[in-house]
Amino acid sequence: MVPGPSRSRFGRGTDIGGNRRGLDCRRNADAIDFGQMKLLVIGGGGREHALVWKLAQSPRVSRLWCAPGNAGTQGEPLVRGGAAENVTIGAEDIGSLLGFAREHRPDLTVVGPDGALALGVVDAFQAEGFPIWGPRMNAARFESSKVFSQEFMRHHGIPTARSGVFTDPAAARLFAHQLGGRCVVKADGLALGKGVIMARDLSEAETAIQRMLVDRMFGDASREVVIQEWLEGTEISLHALCDGSHLQILPSSQDHKRVGDGDQGPNTGGMGTYSPTPFLSSGEWEMMAHAVLDPWLAGCHAEGIDFQGLIYPGVMLTANGPRVLEFNARWGDPETQVYLPRLENDLVEVFLACINGKLDQHPLRWSPLHTVCVVLASHGYPGAVERGKVIHGLADVELLPQVKVFHAGSARLDEEAVTSGGRVLGVTAWDTSLSAARDRAYAAVDRLCFEGMQFRRDIAAKGLAFVPTL
Ligand code: AMP
Ligand code: GLY
Repeated sequence: MVPGPSRSRFGRGTDIGGNRRGLDCRRNADAIDFGQMKLLVIGGGGREHALVWKLAQSPRVSRLWCAPGNAGTQGEPLVRGGAAENVTIGAEDIGSLLGFAREHRPDLTVVGPDGALALGVVDAFQAEGFPIWGPRMNAARFESSKVFSQEFMRHHGIPTARSGVFTDPAAARLFAHQLGGRCVVKADGLALGKGVIMARDLSEAETAIQRMLVDRMFGDASREVVIQEWLEGTEISLHALCDGSHLQILPSSQDHKRVGDGDQGPNTGGMGTYSPTPFLSSGEWEMMAHAVLDPWLAGCHAEGIDFQGLIYPGVMLTANGPRVLEFNARWGDPETQVYLPRLENDLVEVFLACINGKLDQHPLRWSPLHTVCVVLASHGYPGAVERGKVIHGLADVELLPQVKVFHAGSARLDEEAVTSGGRVLGVTAWDTSLSAARDRAYAAVDRLCFEGMQFRRDIAAKGLAFVPTL
């Protein structure tokens, strides 16, 4: 069931708030005292700690809140004095976030996680005139609906996997059979990162189709599925900021999705990253990014989608060229942890340019340093984990040069940092070469421990092993 152009499902022209949003933001931006800005960051993972850390380095910021934050965001020092503060409001509690905004009037709110975007936090803040960075609900569909994204890619000529969209189990089984059984079955909606099943043969594909379309293992999120051919190649992360009209492409990075060394075990949210990657030269990277994102932006314009935020296609570099696996409508986690230490711009200025349609006037500047982030996770991750384990060694690692520990699933209990989730810390280091950055990150990891701590020992190994062909 793949609708043609005459039955577009993209809400052509439905983004009626798109133009008004820009005007509202400009009006509000005019009223900001740029030396005394109050910022609110929504989210509480490693990505949000990295955002808080980078925003705290802006001399414009006098107050910085993070809702709900973690043990690392609380107390992150501001360059102009004072420190970031956590607010005990969940990232998806839009009513309470709005209440906080009405009381404290942040000059800029920055949204980290996809869940809040899919629920329309940007629309809600905009409706009350609060400047906020991130895509509106209509634009966040690139992540919240895989069916939407897949059909968008087909309509707008974006290179992707051979694929189909199904509600009917028999048609889905037939397509899986046509792909030779080895395929990837994806629930349409957000499914806590568990909605993608890699089926090695037809029997696994049929089981996945049964569980998603018939048993509704993800409820309404698996009412429809996307089935893609299983692509072989090198997976990389592409990130670009977009102000609705202009793109700023970030350098390359690579995540490590599987839990175990050598890409073994189940998929996770990401066990570690590094930037840049050696697989493409910077010229080739730009060309690849434009091959994906130019038709994407043209498609947004054609469909009346005003995307202001960060678009993050997951890309497989295959023997036949790049193929987009999926779109995310937010910063990657843990990609953010390796990008922001390399970014030389004031991130507040970049976000303001983004919401005011002036991104073309703010070229991004990147340090030539290499960054590596190693995620330390709780025993059992990506399944159920125990919480409340004391984290040892943080004060020791704080003294190390060119290292930053970004917290994720951590909390403060009395004066101690304890684990509170699956991915606990992202240990990030930077240096003049990839191998030196990797060694620096692992030297810091060696000084940290908590009961049940697990991590991959091969972060950046693919980049280090890569030998360019002339
Ligand atoms: P997604 O959420 O769609 O990115 O899928 C999660 C992960 O599954 C990706 O990061 C890839 O590692 C893997 N994956 C998804 N689609 C494909 C595909 N068509 N071929 C190979 N691997 C895939
Ligand atoms: N790096 C994986 C993600 O952010 O989804």
